Amino acid sequence: MKKINVGILGATGLVGQHLVESLENHPYFNLTTLFARPEKKGQFYYDVVDWVCESRLNPKSAEIKLSSMDDWDAYKDLGLVFSALSAEAADKIEGELRKRGIGIVSNARSFRMRDDVPLLVPEINANALELVETQKKKYNGGFIVANPNCCCIGISLAIAPIEKAIGIESLYIATLQSRSGAGLKGLSSNEITANVIPNIGNEENKIREELPKVFSRKDMEIKIRVNRVPVVDGHTFNIWIKTKKKTSVKEIIDVIKKFKPECGMMPSISKGSSIYNVYEDNAFMPQPKIDAKFLNGMGTSIGRIEAVSDNEFCLTAVSNNAIRGAAGGTLLIAEMLKERGLI
Ligand SMILES: NC(=O)c1ccc[n+]([C@@H]2O[C@H](COP(=O)([O-])OP(=O)(O)OC[C@H]3O[C@@H](n4cnc5c(N)ncnc54)[C@H](OP(=O)(O)O)[C@@H]3O)[C@@H](O)[C@H]2O)c1
Repeated sequence: MKKINVGILGATGLVGQHLVESLENHPYFNLTTLFARPEKKGQFYYDVVDWVCESRLNPKSAEIKLSSMDDWDAYKDLGLVFSALSAEAADKIEGELRKRGIGIVSNARSFRMRDDVPLLVPEINANALELVETQKKKYNGGFIVANPNCCCIGISLAIAPIEKAIGIESLYIATLQSRSGAGLKGLSSNEITANVIPNIGNEENKIREELPKVFSRKDMEIKIRVNRVPVVDGHTFNIWIKTKKKTSVKEIIDVIKKFKPECGMMPSISKGSSIYNVYEDNAFMPQPKIDAKFLNGMGTSIGRIEAVSDNEFCLTAVSNNAIRGAAGGTLLIAEMLKERGLI
């Protein structure tokens, strides 16, 4: 199979680095181009990047010479561009690239809530990809597909089996979000060590806006509080769910275990028999230190599933913010675009 050449915008950042890591030896994609600020053009990636991933930076990517984001010729041979830019940078460039006929899968918030842009969690709302064809017609082949906010992804995956099989009336959520969610320059050690910060930018509004778009459910009641905690990787979510009809803990566990991802088995989620790890007998799990690694960071761990009444339940879920919530999420979208013949 001929591989598709791809590039990464924001390759020096935390999410960009995870993309570089996960694109090594990918069966569908060949990473050829790394974009950075114009002043870094021509430098070797290894000279510029402050590498933070656990695996070693592979020599092929290390020796790529950086391209400038605004050098339009550098996009010519690419079948897809991953964006791991800050929202401020993405605001300026992603729309311009789409106009120039380029396909982008983005981690930034800039286009998430636009009507013509899919806000895609491939396991949940695969049909949203239909919007790609509409954009391609309008923008000379160009399109944007957005990955939701990392909490929106983790929460969506935790509740999807329940929403699809039983129906959800309301959600009360409290998040415990890791440091890596703030990016490489987000938080100083002094701010977060032995501390909890009980708010994060505009995060609560983003989750309240994005969850209804993922599930096409504007009527779902959502109350949320977010917290930054001194965890390295992996967000934890405590979720109280009111279901539309009476159910049981047993039925909830059953629907989670039987859930089939709408996108089917793609390379980045094909390593396990289920995308869920359900703790039925251990009331001290999930924990981000352990569960953020489940399914190479692409899985969701769920535990402490308890009944409050016969239509109210609580559970605790862990999802890897930088992988399933960002780099791996955009890679899964790209795999789906390839499988559906859209790139
Ligand atoms: N971290 C997570 O867990 C997570 C999860 C979901 C979504 N996201 C989203 O993913 C994106 C990347 O996040 P991150 O955590 O990787 O952030 P990060 O570590 O701060 O990286 C940001 C990247 O954007 C580049 N950049 C920033 N301003 C720029 C400008 N004006 N022109 C060109 N490049 C610019 C940076 O380049 P320099 O190195 O040159 O500064 C860097 O490569 C953000 O939109 C974020 O909201 C992050």
